[in-house]
Amino acid sequence: MLKPVVAANWKMHKTLKEAEDYLHRLLELVGAEPPVELVICPSFTALALAARVLAGSPIALGAQNGHPQKEGAFTGEVSMHQLADLGVRYVICGHSERRHLFGETDAFVAEKVNAAWAYGLTPILCVGETLEERRAGQAWEVVERQLRAALADGLSGPLVIAYEPVWAIGTGVPAQPQDAQDMARRIRAWLVEHFGAAGKDVRIQYGGSVKPENAHAFLRLPDIQGALVGGASLDPDAFWRIALAASGDRPSW
Ligand code: 13P
Repeated sequence: MLKPVVAANWKMHKTLKEAEDYLHRLLELVGAEPPVELVICPSFTALALAARVLAGSPIALGAQNGHPQKEGAFTGEVSMHQLADLGVRYVICGHSERRHLFGETDAFVAEKVNAAWAYGLTPILCVGETLEERRAGQAWEVVERQLRAALADGLSGPLVIAYEPVWAIGTGVPAQPQDAQDMARRIRAWLVEHFGAAGKDVRIQYGGSVKPENAHAFLRLPDIQGALVGGASLDPDAFWRIALAASGDRPSW
């Protein structure tokens, strides 16, 4: 059984004070041995603070992005090497906001995934189709292209894949659980076809308008082992309720 991994993508939110208050509250809720793996991906400004507050805790630190080059003249960028130096363990690669707002190509996402492994980080590789692509019946074709490109050089380390249909992100309209399950099953089959047994160790998350109220519908699906949460992850109590839904321990609200 793969241990579910529930990750918070704070995107461009939270001051240092807000980040610190959040992390202390979450640590209080989580206790010593949470039933699922938790990852917090703050903004770069809060990473060092989060590394300090979370040190020795069961909550892992993630970054929202990373540059594949070790160092150099890349104004405004932060490298995977620098992230690893800070104690970061996970890095989101190829989020749809990076792909669509910042023009990241499949090839660049592949460089990031490989660099993450090179520096000992676990990439959270985001894949997902737009609404037009889904309506045109191309959802799998798009996701398969993103997988093929990002993993063209093989599977050289631990990997998490986040299936995030673009139209479900930040809209309040999640995918139908059955559609998420169908996609996750195809992703799993593709991984096993290309990488054999190693493909079975990859955890597949669903992302896109996950909330405490709907989390269970996704996290009980046979081919989903976690969630990548944006808006609802900004509140520690809501994020913890989502994590509990992944553990199978349904709290009684
Ligand atoms: P929302 O949960 O706000 O829809 O965002 C999902 C997401 O993009 C997580 O990476």
